[in-house]
Amino acid sequence: MSEPKKLFIKTYGCQMNVYDSERMAEAMGGSGYVETDSADDADMILLNTCHIREKAAEKVYSELGRFRALKDEKPDLKIGVAGCVAQAEGEEIMRRQPLVDLVVGPQSYHRLPEMEAKARQGEKALDIDFPEEDKFEKLKNRPKARRAPAAFLTVQEGCDKFCAFCVVPYTRGAEVSRPVERVLGEARDLVERGVREITLLGQNVNAYHGHGPDGAWSLARLIWALNDIDGLERIRFTTSHPNDMDDDLIAAHGECKKLMPYLHLPVQSGSDRILKRMNRSHTAESYLKLIERIRAARPDILISGDFIVGFPEETEEDFQATMDLIRAVEYGQAFSFKYSTRPGTPAAERAQVDDAEASDRLQRLQALITEQQRAVQDSMVGREVSVLFEKPGRLPGQMVGKSDYLHAVHVAGAAEAGVKVGDIARVRIVESGANSLAGTLV
Ligand code: 5AD
Ligand code: SF4
Repeated sequence: MSEPKKLFIKTYGCQMNVYDSERMAEAMGGSGYVETDSADDADMILLNTCHIREKAAEKVYSELGRFRALKDEKPDLKIGVAGCVAQAEGEEIMRRQPLVDLVVGPQSYHRLPEMEAKARQGEKALDIDFPEEDKFEKLKNRPKARRAPAAFLTVQEGCDKFCAFCVVPYTRGAEVSRPVERVLGEARDLVERGVREITLLGQNVNAYHGHGPDGAWSLARLIWALNDIDGLERIRFTTSHPNDMDDDLIAAHGECKKLMPYLHLPVQSGSDRILKRMNRSHTAESYLKLIERIRAARPDILISGDFIVGFPEETEEDFQATMDLIRAVEYGQAFSFKYSTRPGTPAAERAQVDDAEASDRLQRLQALITEQQRAVQDSMVGREVSVLFEKPGRLPGQMVGKSDYLHAVHVAGAAEAGVKVGDIARVRIVESGANSLAGTLV
């Protein structure tokens, strides 16, 4: 038998990309590839790119340039670009960087094996269509390898919201939900392979409306069906839009035992004027009311968010409204970004905020968020949480896992006590460190 070929995938950006990279690796397994974690010994390199951060495309070009020496050494090396930059730049990538053999958009991953074969024939392969068929179905033929105890499962892709700053509706296309049976089938399959926690993924996951046996199912209904799968112990979902938090989903946070007390609910800004300019279709007040209702259903829920500062026309007063909202919510975790233009989006055409001013706001916002994050993390000390153990720690006998609230928890002596990867155990938190908690088995 011939040596397996080696595939190196570098993944940028969100969990959606992490999930897609896994699917691409499995698809290429069918063409005789195994994954490697070094580009140097690869027969094929794939960059699974993200377009949400600034200068994303430029970074991809400079990364590609670094493979020139490798390709000179090994002319058979195939280089591909996948993900949202591939979708957005298309043929431009091949024009600008002749090293690239194939460019594949997020909707075409199931075609990767044919594209690779084409590239092996010396042809360039490009596919950035939005096809009708279900790429996830086509990608299903994967080896039955054992999986890590926590896995992602994409249930929805794309977005119809068109926030004025965002490229997702252009790069990932219109919102599409996967059918209920396919999602449940994939979940059962994951559980059979050792998975105990599933995070449902979608750019707008709570807008889920997958086709079910009796019409469209909401995300809440899907979660309740997952709740019935024996062996699956934890359910999470990300990312949500405030406008799609329906009553059933809020109630599920109070009633569904396997649904974890953590919710990522980006608000972006606390100024109604800016929210309107962002095309967010919610206000600061409606967001705060929503948080109140969610906390009424599940008082201990940890709220996480996304913020953009320095959006075009944002004044100091607008920024202070964002700070007020943060103070009102008390976030357990948050991601914050300085606005940066995405060509082709409405906000790119508008008057930009002074960069130094935006940086200053970002710094002040992050200081406040850090303080809140820290306070929430510290409040865990003395409490009992459940931990899903994901890997051994750095110290002998130590194991590391995630709490229900998604905090990393280190437990000394856990391995000696018989705890294995994939176990869920009760842990008393004894210490709150820089980025994680420490606890002891109860
Ligand atoms: N500039 C800055 N941040 C952005 N995000 C999306 N687009 C932009 C942009 N043009 C942030 C939003 C979103 C997160 C994934 O990235 O906060 O929720
Ligand atoms: Fe982008 Fe999210 Fe707005 Fe959709 S809802 S346009 S993915 S920021």
